[in-house]
Amino acid sequence: MAPDYALLARQLAALLDTRDWLTNSAQTCAFLMEEIPTLNWAGFYLHRKPQTLWLGPFQGKPACHPIPFAKGVCGAAARTRRTQRIDDVHAIANHIACDAASRAELVVPIVVDDRLWGVLDLDSPMAGRFSEEDQTGIEMLVGVFMGRTDLVELP
Ligand code: SME
Repeated sequence: MAPDYALLARQLAALLDTRDWLTNSAQTCAFLMEEIPTLNWAGFYLHRKPQTLWLGPFQGKPACHPIPFAKGVCGAAARTRRTQRIDDVHAIANHIACDAASRAELVVPIVVDDRLWGVLDLDSPMAGRFSEEDQTGIEMLVGVFMGRTDLVELP
């Protein structure tokens, strides 16, 4: 059973009462970790250096950093600017294993004015954790984050 994403979208919109990207990204990953069942990591990688994802606010174990666009599931989301929904990362050749417990991964790119701002990365220890419904729901929540936040060029 997927969570009630429409309800989560309203709750997240109410939570994000600043326009500040740092505050809102920290709040968003804490909210997702709390509200989406069976996650072991939720966080942002930011596009702060050319062709490189820089670790941003997250919840979970310390994570891999930095991630070149050429590598991993996050890199694929950055390169293609398309959501990556992976049932079992152990089956992905260039997956970057930060935590051997992670099995399923969902990475949503955040694109503003045709520029990649960063990605939201969710990991789960349960293979096949993310359904199409989850993908649509999480993409909607990323839309709420984008709408409530001034996604300025990153320092
Ligand atoms: N597994 C990711 C790296 C980031 S961590 O999961 C936090 C990847 O292959 O891109």
